[in-house]
Amino acid sequence: MKNKKLNIRDINIFKKKIYITKTANETRNIGSKFFYLLKKGDIVFLNGDLGSGKTTFVQGIIRSFSKDKFAKSPSFLLVKEYNIKKIKFYHIDLYRLEKINSTNIDIIYDYIYSNNISVIEWANKLVNIEHIKTWDITIDTIGSIRKITIKKKEI
Ligand SMILES: Nc1ncnc2c1ncn2[C@@H]1O[C@H](COP(=O)(O)OP(=O)(O)OP(=O)(O)O)[C@@H](O)[C@H]1O
Ligand SMILES: [Mg+2]
Repeated sequence: MKNKKLNIRDINIFKKKIYITKTANETRNIGSKFFYLLKKGDIVFLNGDLGSGKTTFVQGIIRSFSKDKFAKSPSFLLVKEYNIKKIKFYHIDLYRLEKINSTNIDIIYDYIYSNNISVIEWANKLVNIEHIKTWDITIDTIGSIRKITIKKKEI
């Protein structure tokens, strides 16, 4: 997923960067740019309170590779699948998952270890397997604004 518009400076910035957004569209724009940093096999943990903008951020990511205007929240599905050329993009939402058990963790593992790209809302439910993430994004709500912290796993 190379993008000519990106340069080394951008990559360094994304190792740990905090963004402040005032509108949903600004958050989508951050998501759109973030997409170009993703590599095959990446696992993105996305956390933040209810309504903080996690799905909005994912809409921005998807906008970079799909003509679909906006990704809908996978409200009734745990996983929504998209194609990026030859690989898959999995938008996983664990909000409705009550408990991690041996059955559902196997299903989740099948997705995230498939060497595609997965972005997981409410990833903090995946207790004890935090080490698997390659990116950690947290959205904090401060009044009407959002603070988006993007961290890339240090090797
Ligand atoms: N700066 C902003 N960034 C993102 N969303 C914003 C911002 N300002 C306002 N909003 C609004 O906040 C809401 C965010 O909803 P969204 O579904 O993206 O949140 P979520 O974190 O995915 O929620 P859930 O936990 O229910 O999945 C939207 O209604 C959006 O328009
Ligand atoms: Mg959501």
